[in-house]
Amino acid sequence: MKSYLSGIQPSGLLHLGNYFGAIQHHIALAQQPGKHWYFIADFHALTTVRDPEVLRRNVFETAVTYLSLGLDPEKAVLWRQSDVPEVMEIAWLLSTVTGMGLLERAHSFKDKTARGIKSSVGLFTYPILMAADILAYDADFVPVGQDQVQHVEMTQDMAGHFHEVYNSEVFRRPECLLPAAGAAKKVPGLDGQKMSKSYGNDVWLFESGKKLKKRIGQIVTDSRPPEEPKDPDAIFLFDLLALFLDPAELKSLKDAVRQGGEGAPGYGHLKGRLTEAIDSHFANARAQREDFLAHPERVWQALESGAARARVQARAIRDRAFAACGIR
Ligand code: TYM
Repeated sequence: MKSYLSGIQPSGLLHLGNYFGAIQHHIALAQQPGKHWYFIADFHALTTVRDPEVLRRNVFETAVTYLSLGLDPEKAVLWRQSDVPEVMEIAWLLSTVTGMGLLERAHSFKDKTARGIKSSVGLFTYPILMAADILAYDADFVPVGQDQVQHVEMTQDMAGHFHEVYNSEVFRRPECLLPAAGAAKKVPGLDGQKMSKSYGNDVWLFESGKKLKKRIGQIVTDSRPPEEPKDPDAIFLFDLLALFLDPAELKSLKDAVRQGGEGAPGYGHLKGRLTEAIDSHFANARAQREDFLAHPERVWQALESGAARARVQARAIRDRAFAACGIR
């Protein structure tokens, strides 16, 4: 049976990029046969979140988000990364066989420090902990968005180095699993760059009503009037609309923008349609969320039982790795 594993950082409220790039895929996969492992990467989030209350709240919100969107904790194991300390032990073993050069090539470290995030040792060695997350559960596939592909490739390299050094095949080689062709590999944020909490250009997936309208109103557009013909494929607002609208409606809006003239939809109209679509797409899940917020014990219970299951698996693989390198 194949196994699927992915993690998400509780560095803020989850946004449309997390949803279309990863969570939607995770929940759909969990309906299929296989072993499914999804965790909340709170150790990773410490590289950017410095407020303990905020971190606790984000962990809870991340779990609530998965459950409200329909992840069945019976079919998929959902847990908090820090509840499985064996992963840290595997991370240490991997760090001893990983060259500095491999980490120096990581795009995400360069992007984050360029954006002003403090370049701590933890931020630099982030991919090692991520590799341990993946290898600790014998994952065959890692469903992630485009921005995490390099991290999965680095995981393959680290496992390979470990096997070479110790001449034994301890870890399973994981493969990346991107959203299906045509789906969102990289969802743009309000400014057209990758949507990201740390870039401040994100839209919370449960935002609604006036706040949502205001947020969508902040999407960057230009000052060309509605009647001027435009290339819709060069307008990233359409990349967001494409996530929600059916193909026929999307095509007719694009055709109208391309043609221009009297009655062509302006940016305000397109933003209004996007607001409506987001609001209705998540209406059901928002109601589920309210239910979970009223019963937090159900959320903690799901995380606790998930951690117990995850720990059994990680411990077995940690023991295998220890045996290979002569610890114990
Ligand atoms: P994180 O928390 O940044 O993002 C979680 C998932 O959401 C995807 N994603 C996006 N997809 C498309 N467009 C976007 N704008 C966008 N923003 C985020 C990410 O690709 C990711 O799949 N390092 C990971 C967390 C992690 C992990 C792991 C993942 C820790 N250990 C082990 C897989 C396996 C991260 O920062 O994801």
